[in-house]
Amino acid sequence: MSASEAVSMQSSTEPVSSGHYSGSADGTVWFRSHFEQAAGEVIDFLGGDGISLEGKRVADVGCGDGITDLGLAVRAKPASLVGFDVVPTDTAALSEQAAGCDVQELPDNLSFVTCGETGLPAPDGSFDYVLSWSAFEHILDPVPVLRDIRRILTDEGVLFIQLWPFYDSAHGTHLVDWFPEGFAQFHYDDDEILRRMRAAGNQDAVTGMYEAYRTLNRITADGLHAALRKAGFRVVKLELQADGAHIPHEAADIPPSRIGISGIKLLAVKDGPGPDATSEPQPEAAAQPAPAAAGTTARVRHAALRISRGALRRLDDRLERLQVADRDQ
Ligand SMILES: C[S@@+](CC[C@H](N)C(=O)[O-])C[C@H]1O[C@@H](n2cnc3c(N)ncnc32)[C@H](O)[C@@H]1O
Repeated sequence: MSASEAVSMQSSTEPVSSGHYSGSADGTVWFRSHFEQAAGEVIDFLGGDGISLEGKRVADVGCGDGITDLGLAVRAKPASLVGFDVVPTDTAALSEQAAGCDVQELPDNLSFVTCGETGLPAPDGSFDYVLSWSAFEHILDPVPVLRDIRRILTDEGVLFIQLWPFYDSAHGTHLVDWFPEGFAQFHYDDDEILRRMRAAGNQDAVTGMYEAYRTLNRITADGLHAALRKAGFRVVKLELQADGAHIPHEAADIPPSRIGISGIKLLAVKDGPGPDATSEPQPEAAAQPAPAAAGTTARVRHAALRISRGALRRLDDRLERLQVADRDQ
């Protein structure tokens, strides 16, 4: 059983702890599912490729309450492990929980730093490994964060990402305690989700978890891959978690690759010279120099250089219409 599954099985009604998302009113279950299971899964996944964190400089992005990092700091023995999060990590609370689980004090190799939404306060190339556990579905704008992770990694550095659950999967709302049958995101609109949560009681938990649900970035496995490529990473190892599910009729058009994939673990390495020289294939039209004529068509094509391929297609349609209009003038 993975840590994420353990969390999903808890009868949580107290999901927010010190401003971080926490999955259970039962602190011991929550602590163990991170200190032992999540940390163990990171160690095993890396170890499967002969990677040891011992003596290495490690960062964790989106470290939350820091319990997974504590498990890694104690068990994997990195030279240093820095947990970054936009919400300050409550080390007093972490120490208290740790003491209850036979870890008497926080180890010297563990520290926590509050970061910005897209900026990690760390020098270039200062980490051998960067980890992220259950955070990338909460990060508002993943590409700049991935670019900054790339910046703080050494050239030989490795990025480990675990994400569970993807938005389109059964428990993608993160609201398993209120909707254990799953797929609430397809059954109900947001007002109805909130109404049902409120009706179940525990208003503090409702506010925090409804906010967490509403701010999910809804990233998919393919979307995460595209974000990694855009940020200058290449995925070198991949493990998908696929769960059996009964599909509600409201989700009939969601492809199996989205609704059936609930989680991912991956390793990625730096690819190419850097995110500025994007590894995304450039559309042929965008690679062409802008037409010399300084008309509307030139301005539209120039704008297309800066935008995504989906938007580029729409602009190309517009461009075609404008070219016809230019010709007719
Ligand atoms: C679901 S929690 C996971 C915490 C921890 N990794 C764990 O498994 O318990 C997601 C965390 O990501 C953090 N987060 C959201 N956006 C972030 C960002 N741009 N940079 C760093 N952390 C971020 C949140 O504050 C939150 O603590």
